[in-house]
Amino acid sequence: MRTQVGIVGAGPAGLLLSHLLHLRGIDSVVLEARSRHYCETRIRAGVLEQGTADLLVASGVGGRMTREGLVHRGIVLRFGGRDHRIDLSELTGGRTILVYGQHEVVKDLIAARLDAGGEIFFDVEDVAVGDLDTAAPRIRFRRGGEARELRCDFIAGCDGFHGICRPSIPPGVLTIYEHAHPFAWLGILAQAPPASAELIYASHARGFALLSMRSPEVSRLYLQCEPAEAIGEWPDDRIWQELRRRFETDEGWTLRDGPVLQKGITAMRSFVASPMQHGRLFLLGDAAHIVPPTGAKGLNLAAADVRVFVEALDAFYAAGRTDLLAGYSAACLRRVWKVQRFSWWMTSMLHRSAEGEFFDRLHLAELDYVTSSRAAATALAENYVGLPFAPA
Ligand code: FAD
Ligand code: DHB
Repeated sequence: MRTQVGIVGAGPAGLLLSHLLHLRGIDSVVLEARSRHYCETRIRAGVLEQGTADLLVASGVGGRMTREGLVHRGIVLRFGGRDHRIDLSELTGGRTILVYGQHEVVKDLIAARLDAGGEIFFDVEDVAVGDLDTAAPRIRFRRGGEARELRCDFIAGCDGFHGICRPSIPPGVLTIYEHAHPFAWLGILAQAPPASAELIYASHARGFALLSMRSPEVSRLYLQCEPAEAIGEWPDDRIWQELRRRFETDEGWTLRDGPVLQKGITAMRSFVASPMQHGRLFLLGDAAHIVPPTGAKGLNLAAADVRVFVEALDAFYAAGRTDLLAGYSAACLRRVWKVQRFSWWMTSMLHRSAEGEFFDRLHLAELDYVTSSRAAATALAENYVGLPFAPA
């Protein structure tokens, strides 16, 4: 088999890449280890920057998202028993965010690719990449028990943090920058109307909690827990009790509960691999970098890498230019590090750690500052809605 771009991974990065390349007349094949059903039901991110949502609309896959997604103009920071609203739109010249589940984006992209005759091979096994420093890299895999090989001009490693692409780069090429945060998030999806119209990021002495949503009937809630805790230690009653405590206000705000549809614990990590390229293998999204989820950035950062890579491939195929491909990693990493900084800052400000009372006071001062200074609130808002993209 042959294609122009062999894509490993059918997450948001791989699917969006395949879709945008198709619109530029560039062929790709997507290889995915899991089933289509698994990809379409895996509950993860929920917040799209306006730029990400605009990209989906402009590329023709935003129809259902525009109908079903929830436009938000602000978020709430809750601490000291009170709410402090950050008016994202007012502080950023009218920009907004869109609450729409990542798995819905994935469903829309899979449907668009398959409708256009695109090739996505689900349930493939033993994926391995090779000949990376030649002009004809290849991907070996098994499909239905049969060994196959895909020859391509370029390989896009979109296989997430635990994928095989990044580890296939020879030792010594990549520099890894990482930080393990001393807490995790327990997330639930609940059949309960969201108790607030806007997201609430709550900093409480017992730890951080976040209220988000997926629809007017379904809430998405998170609470800070220990990385070593098992989900079995958290029966539903304990989760609701803990959420109620962390969301408490002086005015007696009440959380709405309901049946828990799904729950899980996610560790928190900050991670960057640099450069995001080796020979003809390019890394995109979580394969290259991970941010802690507090800034709602992982999916958006994956989409930002895709934009840069599509422009670079287009310049290569349309005009034989290699300069944008050579500059891919540097162009992506400029944004990656700013987003790392923002995600780390939101995380440390809102979570409780064992660093001690001194740091708790600093974080409260930071919250007080960000909710009382227009300059500080603007800095939060412009990062949260998404930093602008440099002209191509
Ligand atoms: P992934 O979504 O991980 O996709 C990689 C794909 O590659 C997967 O389908 C995987 O099955 C496949 N794969 C792996 N190995 C192989 C292999 N060997 N061969 C073939 N296929 C393979 N981000 C936000 O922007 N906003 C949020 O609100 C947000 N909240 C989050 C909440 C949680 C609880 C979590 C866990 C994450 C959250 N994120 C958020 C982060 C976001 O989900 C990720 O950044 C995003 O999924 C990255 O997309 P990706 O395509 O790079 O990788
Ligand atoms: C959601 C996840 C986040 O990490 C975040 O910061 C906000 C919302 C969500 O899943 O809805």
